[in-house]
Amino acid sequence: MEVKKVAVVTGGNKGIGFAIVKGLCEKFNGNVYLTARSITNGNNAVIKLKQLGLNPIFHQLDVCDENSINTFRDYIKYTEGGVDVLINNAGIYADKLEIPIGDQAEKTINENYYSILNVCNALFPILRSNAQVINLSSSAGHLARIPSINMQAKFRDPLLTVDKLSRCMNEYVEDCKNNRYIEKGWGSSPYVVSKVGVSALSILQQNELDKETEKRNIFVNFVHPGYVDTDMTNHQGVMTIEEGAQSSIYLALGNHGLRGQYVWFNCKVVDWYGPTTPPKA
Ligand SMILES: NC(=O)c1ccc[n+]([C@@H]2O[C@H](COP(=O)([O-])OP(=O)(O)OC[C@H]3O[C@@H](n4cnc5c(N)ncnc54)[C@H](OP(=O)(O)O)[C@@H]3O)[C@@H](O)[C@H]2O)c1
Repeated sequence: MEVKKVAVVTGGNKGIGFAIVKGLCEKFNGNVYLTARSITNGNNAVIKLKQLGLNPIFHQLDVCDENSINTFRDYIKYTEGGVDVLINNAGIYADKLEIPIGDQAEKTINENYYSILNVCNALFPILRSNAQVINLSSSAGHLARIPSINMQAKFRDPLLTVDKLSRCMNEYVEDCKNNRYIEKGWGSSPYVVSKVGVSALSILQQNELDKETEKRNIFVNFVHPGYVDTDMTNHQGVMTIEEGAQSSIYLALGNHGLRGQYVWFNCKVVDWYGPTTPPKA
């Protein structure tokens, strides 16, 4: 019997994640899991897609909750046997919240960086051969968005590891709590640092997977989806959610050969280490 392929999208109840699920239901040959932290919002999103004749499967997944991650991992492992596409879309923008910068930084690094690291640590062991992993970064996740050249150098270090990167993210949170983030050269945005962390993590994950003895031929890439009309942008974004989903769907469907690359909304590769970014939409 042929094994059915499996795609998983985090934060699928609305925005870009919802459009990624929709696009995968239309184009991906396999089961598509719409996951969300809220059971009600997740089920409502599934109902909307069913009304369009599509057939996603809902499972609860809060990417910041270890129990929820492990429950989901166990469910997928025993019902499906593995994962072929993992799209780490869930994320937050807390820069404008009226809380101290140290709290903003802690919340943002936790929700945007550690969430992806923890979901990947749980699901990577059950990725099948030729799996595609797509991490939602941002134009804000370009290395040049970190103002200090010395600070940038930490991310360029060829000896950087995931552990060192996580320590770097923790150091950033501490620097915010101690009000030293500007003098240390991090810049003023927790969102930027969290997404630079996601970008760097994606490159390191690809390097690590390339070295595994099992040789599963897994692809990890990270995207800037565009400036998209969602709750996150207070609907100021100029692109539709379907347009914002395109780069992730392109990567998920394979046939691109890209590994550890920064992929723009138009599916073109951008140099993460380069001096500038192309327009964000
Ligand atoms: N919109 C843009 O222009 C833009 C540009 C660059 C990058 N991005 C990135 O694209 C991704 C999607 O953004 P969006 O604009 O679609 O944002 P959005 O409309 O605010 O949707 C974010 C999604 O993430 C979910 N989420 C947040 N924390 C979660 C958690 N702990 N567990 C599970 N789900 C969680 C939200 O669930 P709830 O409904 O429960 O809150 C929601 O489903 C984000 O990673 C964002 O940083 C967006």
